[in-house]
Amino acid sequence: MKNIYSNIIKFNSKNIIKIIKIIKKNGIIGLPTETVYGLAGNAYSNIAIAKIFKIKKRLKKNPLIIHYYDLNHAQKDVILNQKFYKIYKKFSPGPITYIVKKKNTSRIKTAACANLKTVGIRFPKNKIIRNILKKLNFPLAMPSANKSSGISPVKPSDVFEEFHNKIKVVDGGVSKIGIESTVINLVGNICVLRPGIITPKQIENTLKTKIRVSLNLKTIKSPGYLKKHYSPGIPMYLNKKKCPDKHAFITFGKKYPVTRNTFNLSKKSNLNQAAKNLYKLFRNIKKKGYKKIYVAKIPNKGIGIAINDRLKRASK
Ligand code: TXA
Ligand code: MG
Repeated sequence: MKNIYSNIIKFNSKNIIKIIKIIKKNGIIGLPTETVYGLAGNAYSNIAIAKIFKIKKRLKKNPLIIHYYDLNHAQKDVILNQKFYKIYKKFSPGPITYIVKKKNTSRIKTAACANLKTVGIRFPKNKIIRNILKKLNFPLAMPSANKSSGISPVKPSDVFEEFHNKIKVVDGGVSKIGIESTVINLVGNICVLRPGIITPKQIENTLKTKIRVSLNLKTIKSPGYLKKHYSPGIPMYLNKKKCPDKHAFITFGKKYPVTRNTFNLSKKSNLNQAAKNLYKLFRNIKKKGYKKIYVAKIPNKGIGIAINDRLKRASK
């Protein structure tokens, strides 16, 4: 019987050959990135794309992000403009996804883009994923490696918990950032569709123009943003000052009591640390069998905007 140890594989010279072989044969595999773990497959293969949608139980209308090694590869599939290049130069490779126009000659399968004329492209920074992308002559479609609407995985065993023996996972340790990439729409009016560690302010400073943040769940363009998301699957209540003993209390900073049912995102009030801990705490709380989660107020600045966005969606 296969177990967690034979499914989580180290990134070494012997396994690289195995990993590349799986991907080239239209298989799918869990891979680390600097944000969260992804579920990767050949973006030019309908077989691989179908496998990703099926195993995640993802709605067909929710497009996947396409991951590239560099611009040379991406330029074959998408139309890039000056604004893109400016932001790219500053933040890529890194935790940001650009929504751009797809070329008519693009080889990305339409199913991967949910039949849209736009594509989300990302150039991840993590060394392992970059090493793999460099060896391929096609990009990787890669959503977060969790079942649809669930919690994104931030370590290999999280991916194992989602899909068990159905896929292999490459061990890249704990995700450095722990929250998904910033998604910025560059087609038509520029706006942030999903906040992340790269903030609207940073993008504004780079482009020297005002950026809209389109967090209103009703008006958002991408179908993926409409659903309940990032959810531990139990009711969650936000901006709470205290919490009954029987429920889990997610806190931030020093002012909360340390009790059996408190889970502190960052005692030092560090928002980057809080982002890194968020999904880990969601999983821990769920495993401990709590039926409800109360959450303290989290400062809404920097990556705190992304944390609050995920909390809001998880509480829907
Ligand atoms: O950090 C990340 O972005 C991770 C890692 C693995 O790269 N990936 C990730 O993928 O979070 P996923 O599929 O869980 O979330 C991608 C989001 C979805 O909400 C989807 O709707 C949106 O990006 N998206 C993808 N293509 C889009 C498009 N053409 N237009 C608008 N939104 C798009
Ligand atoms: Mg996801």
